[in-house]
Amino acid sequence: MNTRSRVRAGAVAVAFALLAAGCTGSGSGGGVKGTPGAAGLRDPYFPKLGNSGYDVSHYALTLSYDPATGRLDGRAEITAKATQDLSAFNLDFVGLTVRGATVDGRPAAVNRAGNELTLRPRAEIEDGAEFRATVTYDGVPQKITDSDGSEEGWLKTADGALALGEPTGSTAWFPGNHHPSDKATYDIAVTVPAGVKAFSNGVLSSEKKTADGRGTSVWHVAEPMASYLATLAIGRFDTTTTTALGGKVPVVTAVDPVVAAGAAALRARIPELLEWETENFGPYPFAAAGAIVERDGDAGYALETQTRPVFPGSSFDTSTLVHEMAHQWYGDSVSPATWKDMWLNESFATYAEWLYAEDFEHTPAQKSFEKAFANDAAWAFPPAEPPKAEDLFGTPVYQRGAMVLHRIRQEVGDDTFYEILAGWPAEHRHGNATTKDFTEYVESVAGRDLSGLWDVWLYGDGKPARPTA
Ligand code: TRP
Ligand code: ZN
Repeated sequence: MNTRSRVRAGAVAVAFALLAAGCTGSGSGGGVKGTPGAAGLRDPYFPKLGNSGYDVSHYALTLSYDPATGRLDGRAEITAKATQDLSAFNLDFVGLTVRGATVDGRPAAVNRAGNELTLRPRAEIEDGAEFRATVTYDGVPQKITDSDGSEEGWLKTADGALALGEPTGSTAWFPGNHHPSDKATYDIAVTVPAGVKAFSNGVLSSEKKTADGRGTSVWHVAEPMASYLATLAIGRFDTTTTTALGGKVPVVTAVDPVVAAGAAALRARIPELLEWETENFGPYPFAAAGAIVERDGDAGYALETQTRPVFPGSSFDTSTLVHEMAHQWYGDSVSPATWKDMWLNESFATYAEWLYAEDFEHTPAQKSFEKAFANDAAWAFPPAEPPKAEDLFGTPVYQRGAMVLHRIRQEVGDDTFYEILAGWPAEHRHGNATTKDFTEYVESVAGRDLSGLWDVWLYGDGKPARPTA
């Protein structure tokens, strides 16, 4: 639908009054008021990631992939709302060939410069208007190698492909507003040849065969998702479907047959671990759960992709599973406002491992704290201030981050600490939060100033004196 008619449709009386006053209003058609949205959100580590001027509410991705040729054919339909009068706007997109784009059903001019795709609609989009952009594209998607050497984006696997997106890899398979601050719901439809299957996030909403024998699976993500948490795993899988949390949450697992025997016992424990995490972290935030387990060569690390984390076979162990599942509350439901807030993800996920060891393995969290404290690598930089993008996954973000949580526990006691564990994800459910939001929240629950703790443990350089607990 045309933006102008959409905006005016519900406001006939106002439009009439404006016309009567000899005023034609502003925006679409006039072409004088709108300006282009910015090509980045000035993230401290990835300044060009994301784009301003609009806010995405939904991605409908229609993809087909052929493992034999490595070719992806895609169409992304993006529903968004303008946050300014827009003459043009950007999408982040890496590689692949753009075949065309529309805005509200009319062809839009497309320009490409580096990883920025600019769409210029025929008519300007008024501030506050909802619009729908489509981009059709194809090609062989790229693997992205990060500054720390880790691989993400589109990874070819032994029998298909795997898409991993932290921090920027989702740019390799669909155009979008790829900053964690712009979360949206998704429908991801994937068509693949007979013999392989496609797993993604959320609930399997339909599955059917096409006339030529290929299969299409449609995955529905009903809760807002940061694009770095989107995944797609194409290949041959041993699959199980069960339920958890009183039958309410479907648990779908897809395991590469090569690693299935080794993964069997732990895979069966997902419902029980979900139950334990729910007791500690509060209600499970999503409509589905599960895991995707690949061969070691297919993925270099585990990732907390929303509802369905991904693991290389040899990382599918209890503590990593507990870690990635904990991210569903910390990182996936409450997402970082910028990549600087990454420690909010990893501190809690690491602390979940410490809590598991405490509850199931007779290892008090205090012991895990002392072990982390003794690790020199944990003191390289303050967790809330990674020096460079390549430090986002550094030991301080994980271990020193978890130490910050343990110091809070020491200060406020167990009752208040557990209140914070469940209260924090409840406070920002399906949203984004900054480090400042966190420290203010903890102080409000604790009922006192904790700036000494933040100064030393969160922001301070070097190793402090060993706390006397
Ligand atoms: N965020 C992931 C986790 O902790 C791990 C991860 C993602 C990672 N990308 C990485 C670790 C790159 C090292 C390098 O669950
Ligand atoms: Zn993690």
